[in-house]
Amino acid sequence: MKRVLLISSLMVSIVIFFSGCQPTPKPVKTIENLKVAFKGESNASAKYAAYAQKAREEGFPAIAVLFTAASEAEKIHAGNHAKVLEKLGVKPEEVKPEFQVLTTKENLQDAITGEGYEMETMYPGFLTVAEEEKANDAKTSFTFALDTEKKHHSFYVSAMAALEGGTLSSLPVAYYVCPKCGNTFDEANVKDPCDFCQTPKDKFKKFM
Ligand SMILES: [Fe+2]
Ligand SMILES: [Fe+2]
Repeated sequence: MKRVLLISSLMVSIVIFFSGCQPTPKPVKTIENLKVAFKGESNASAKYAAYAQKAREEGFPAIAVLFTAASEAEKIHAGNHAKVLEKLGVKPEEVKPEFQVLTTKENLQDAITGEGYEMETMYPGFLTVAEEEKANDAKTSFTFALDTEKKHHSFYVSAMAALEGGTLSSLPVAYYVCPKCGNTFDEANVKDPCDFCQTPKDKFKKFM
């Protein structure tokens, strides 16, 4: 009787041990969200580079440099999302950018709308799902992007106000981008180290 009890308790222990060792389930919804975010950031990066060129052609160098810095930041976000996808065993599909270049004023409005959607709707939703699925790497990548898009939105709103108000000379002439998280700083408000990811300022890329 004693032996039977011993064997059965041993078997229970083995079952508990192995059930604890089961691999974490794949964050299925987060993988789809990462793909969407990767595509969106890749597209935004290409679009802002084209908007920068248009702004330069139209004689708005301060707006051009803002678009160039934001383009770099979006490229970093896309790369971060891609790394998380790869870690989850998914190869991100190549993105064929689709966008229209209009006047700089219209391009700025498009950028404000795009950043507004990402910071108010898209990334908060993706973060809720990543939290539910315990997808911590995705949470970090989404948070870096969300916090940066809030700053981009604010920069674009200021640029639009300056364009409409004829005060373009009040805009920053240089920006810095953190290579790890994409955090974007205007020259007067650079943080050392980066307040999102602690990367030191000497690693930042300067745009002017
Ligand atoms: Fe952005
Ligand atoms: Fe950073």
